[in-house]
Order: sequence, then structure tokens, then C-alpha cells
Amino acid sequence: MDHEDSVFMKRFSLLIVGLMVFTVVIIFYALYLHGQLVPSENPIREEVKLARIQPSAGVYAGETGRAEAAAAAAAQTAALPAAYGGRMDPQEIYNGVCAACHATGAAGSPVLNEPSQWTSRLAQGVDTLVSNAVNGINLMPAKGGRADLTDDQVRVTVEWMVEQVQQ
Ligand code: HEC
Repeated sequence: MDHEDSVFMKRFSLLIVGLMVFTVVIIFYALYLHGQLVPSENPIREEVKLARIQPSAGVYAGETGRAEAAAAAAAQTAALPAAYGGRMDPQEIYNGVCAACHATGAAGSPVLNEPSQWTSRLAQGVDTLVSNAVNGINLMPAKGGRADLTDDQVRVTVEWMVEQVQQ
């Protein structure tokens, strides 16, 4: 190796070392810059999350949510076929739904052929009895647990029960 070659080798090595140092510096600078970024959420994930909480969040989202929930509930009720084909036969309904409790006194319900258990209830008037039977009261489930009964079906059944008690 003559003198010129060794000068060249020295400079070339310096250049290589310099480039290596530069590489390391820009790697750390890139890492630093990356750390400064505000992480952005995957938009699809955001959509999925919103869709997931939508039913419950919708119900509580003020007036709009309440109106929507009411519409959904109404649609669901409308979609239910009326129980017993919509027949207004109180005895059929009583035997099919109400007797489970009111024939036996289950859950502390007033027994149909124990008029003494009805005295204070009858005093409330038929309309109150009907509305309590439709909406439920204490352990008495709304419509005896048959949401597909129409209000009118419950009314004729209560009226029929009142007749039985008064006989
Ligand atoms: C799961 C049992 C159960 C079924 C099924 C049931 N009831 Fe009742 N019912 C009760 C109980 C318990 C009470 C007493 C509620 C109270 O006053 O604490 C009651 C009370 C009533 C009353 C008196 C309400 C008042 O204001 O005093 C009426 C009327 C009545 N039921 C009608 C019906 C009719 C109509 C059906 C069928 C469509 C029915 N129930 C089905 C348990 C039942």
C-alpha cells in the first residue's frame, strides 16, 4: 500500500463510521418523533364500538332516544299476534293464564272462589282492578305474564272474575 492508498483508506473508513453514526442518530430521532404522535383510533373499531353500545345508549339519549324506544316497543307489541286468536272469551283466558295463580292463591294472589279475599279489592272499582291487572301490581305480573293479551281481553277477564266473586 503506498501513501495515497492509506490516505484514501483512512478517509473512506471515517466516512463509513460517520454514516453509521448518522444512521443511529436518525433511528433515534425517528423513534422520538413517533413518540410525539397522538395515536389515532382505527375508524372501523370506533364504528363497531358505537354499534355495540347503540341499543342501551339509544334508550337513554334524551327525547330522541325515548321516542325511538317507544316506537320500537310499539312496533314489537303490534307485531305480537293477540293471544287466543284475539278471542274475548274470559273463561278461556282465565283458565289458560290467570287460574295458575288465582285458583290456588300462588304468590299470595287473591283466590277466585274466596270472596272475602276480594272485598277490599272490589272496593277500588273495576277500572282500577283492570288497570292493575293490565300493568301488574306487586307480585301480579302485567297481564298475568301474557304480554300478548290485549288490554280488552284482560278487561273482560277481570269483569268476569268480578262477576264470579259477587255471585
Ligand atoms: C303469577 C301469578 C299471577 C297470575 C298468572 C295472575 N295473577 Fe292476578 N294477582 C296475582 C297476585 C300475587 C295478586 C295480588 C297483588 C297485590 O295486590 O299485591 C293479583 C291480583 C290481581 C287482581 C287484583 C288487583 C288489585 O288491584 O287488587 C286482579 C284483578 C288480577 N290479579 C287479575 C288477573 C288476571 C285477569 C290474570 C290473568 C290474565 C291474572 N291476574 C293472572 C298473581 C297473579
